Amino acid sequence: MKRIITASLIPGMITSEDVYTYNDQLILPKGHVLTDKTITKLEFFSIINVLIENDHLLERKFRDIETPYSDRVKKSDGYKRFVKRFDMERQSFKITINDLVERNLPVDTTALYEKTIALLDEENSKLSYFDILHNLRTYDDPTYAHSINVGLICHVLARWMKYSPEDVKTATLCGLFHDVGKLMIPEEILNKPGKLTAAEFTVIKTHTSEGYKLLKDNSLGAHIKNSILMHHERCDGSGYPLGLKAAKIDNFAKMVAIADLYDAMTSPRVYRGPMCPFQVVEEFEREGLQKHDPKMILVFLENVVNTYLQNRVKLSNGLEADVIFINHDHLARPTVRSGNQFIDLAEEQTIEIEALI
Ligand SMILES: [Fe+2]
Ligand SMILES: [Fe+2]
Repeated sequence: MKRIITASLIPGMITSEDVYTYNDQLILPKGHVLTDKTITKLEFFSIINVLIENDHLLERKFRDIETPYSDRVKKSDGYKRFVKRFDMERQSFKITINDLVERNLPVDTTALYEKTIALLDEENSKLSYFDILHNLRTYDDPTYAHSINVGLICHVLARWMKYSPEDVKTATLCGLFHDVGKLMIPEEILNKPGKLTAAEFTVIKTHTSEGYKLLKDNSLGAHIKNSILMHHERCDGSGYPLGLKAAKIDNFAKMVAIADLYDAMTSPRVYRGPMCPFQVVEEFEREGLQKHDPKMILVFLENVVNTYLQNRVKLSNGLEADVIFINHDHLARPTVRSGNQFIDLAEEQTIEIEALI
């Protein structure tokens, strides 16, 4: 029996304890056999690790799993250019943010913003940022690459929400800085592979309030500071550190919360290729629409799903199909066409989209 971090869990592992959310709701019972879906659910609720009965499965070796889709993305010039520039940006962002934490200097937010969003332009027109994001998984730092991704997702979402240019910039910066408090958490706790004690859990959760305290007198704008403090709050009051409800949560923090979760849920797993966006959307629809701002979450999921209209997918019944029509009341279950057969997945609940191909 061993405590295993969520990112290392493998389908087939059996839980040796009941798993609860931060506010004591049961997520999975003891004795549950994990599936890809239930592991995603653990990510959704930000569960850091789980006690596992058959931890010898950890030794199982997995080959790099490539699908034709991920192969196509990774071999494209747009992706290769993005990765190169992303890596440079990650190094310079690391310096900026360490300076901020160690010396509390003012940040040139305009320069930082422009360098960050420059990652998105280019002649990447054939690739969406989400294609890149779902495949971009080679970094072992828990904070910098994640922060840039959350900043970019916020940028895209703020534009989908038709925010003013000034607010789009603020949203991006809120994403970039949201986890700055993680730099103040002792590394041996943050990266601890073994069992986290309840006290250590409590320490990790303080990255919100500690980050806020550190920067509260810095010239960074109020929304950025609020996002640092409130990005783990949820509209139904189930979040932390304060358990605030929708009306008290900064709107920019609500946006960061969505971007933060999406990046965590699409994170790498040793046993499979890139996460299928439809499965992530399904998880949001099943577990959490009420945890988020209703307009924001709908605009986000609808646009993510729209990105994959016309894409070819593999279904759980073995068929291949094209996504041809989005069902607005069930975004994860579009209508697809396989040969000359139309399948409305909102009606055929037993069939699922397994992967993009
Ligand atoms: Fe966080
Ligand atoms: Fe985060």
